[in-house]
Amino acid sequence: MIVPVELAERSYDVVLAEDARSDLASLIATRAPKAKVAALVTSKSLSEQPWFDLRSGIDQYILTVPEGELAKTLASFETLSEQLAELQLSRDDVIVGIGGGAVTDLAGFAAATYLRGIALVQVPTSLVGQVDAAIGGKTGVNLRAGKNLVGSFHQPIGVLCDFSTLLTMPERERLAGLGEVAKCWLLEGGFAAELSAVSFHDLIVLSVSLKAAIVREDEREGGRRALLNYGHTLAHALEKVALARDSEELRHGEAVAIGLAFAPRLAAALGRVDPSEIVRHDEVLLSLGLQSRIPVNFPTSSLLEAMSHDKKAHHDLTFVLGGAAGFETVRGVDRALVHDVLERFQGEP
Ligand SMILES: NC(=O)c1ccc[n+]([C@@H]2O[C@H](COP(=O)([O-])OP(=O)(O)OC[C@H]3O[C@@H](n4cnc5c(N)ncnc54)[C@H](O)[C@@H]3O)[C@@H](O)[C@H]2O)c1
Repeated sequence: MIVPVELAERSYDVVLAEDARSDLASLIATRAPKAKVAALVTSKSLSEQPWFDLRSGIDQYILTVPEGELAKTLASFETLSEQLAELQLSRDDVIVGIGGGAVTDLAGFAAATYLRGIALVQVPTSLVGQVDAAIGGKTGVNLRAGKNLVGSFHQPIGVLCDFSTLLTMPERERLAGLGEVAKCWLLEGGFAAELSAVSFHDLIVLSVSLKAAIVREDEREGGRRALLNYGHTLAHALEKVALARDSEELRHGEAVAIGLAFAPRLAAALGRVDPSEIVRHDEVLLSLGLQSRIPVNFPTSSLLEAMSHDKKAHHDLTFVLGGAAGFETVRGVDRALVHDVLERFQGEP
């Protein structure tokens, strides 16, 4: 299956297949024909996986970065950039990000900035990576002040979503990835009852297709792309609070699942949607096996504080919410109301 991301001269294909990774050499030969060196950016544990047999068709070097979210720091960005310079990668060469969203975000940011931008191929190996992070060109790292605060738009020349890499993904990561899948399903108006008729791979293709369609319309998030942040205002706040304590506490997709349950509650409290939307969301999240309640150790006050500093908030509380005109970005949501809905949500079983 091939999903094109049509962006004029920055267009590329997302290949979704059981052995998509074997396309790497032909992709580089076609899209970066002058490349002589490929820097394969990954983590140590991923480089030891049975599927890590990638062949770029040119000289290749494996550069390992810290595991998971720890890869997304300015320090690892600096180390990686120095390594690229030591390898004397030129403007014609290519960086290949192989891993979950953390690795592809870092590899993408390095590709966006090294020599002011070189070619990038993404080989996402986690569900979040395949349905979301590796597509659309958003790259970046975290700051202490929050996630993804430094970054750049840099489209890859191709994305290889290899289904067989997902087989080694820990169950927790698979579930976390389903958080982003649930987001797409809910944005598309899907119900829980319809999920049983859709295969896991088809859910991935559906999510990639939605993202590709939105990115095509709004590459740099001036408007419609912000819809992909559905559930993310609360999710980013949860992640920020968790990250300050322990990078393992909460996965991005786990936080998204909670944010997706909160969004219709807030929308209903604002009179924007019928309360049946809460049921639709809860049922979809439940049927995908997702935990969608706020853990007790996330006080409302810390979450509100973190949400006010979300980079998309423009200094007020901003959410993507359903409404009569469909999903849209809603700015300036009343803080006291958000507080009350959060408190009520915290008390739900
Ligand atoms: N750029 C974007 O548009 C975008 C979109 C969504 C999420 N993100 C970012 O993506 C990150 C989350 O991505 P994630 O959920 O993939 O987490 P992750 O990259 O931290 O990976 C989670 C864990 O799974 C492991 N893993 C990945 N693939 C594996 C495999 N095939 N087999 C075994 N282990 C595997 C990783 O090594 C890591 O330990 C966050 O930083 C988030 O901000 C970016």
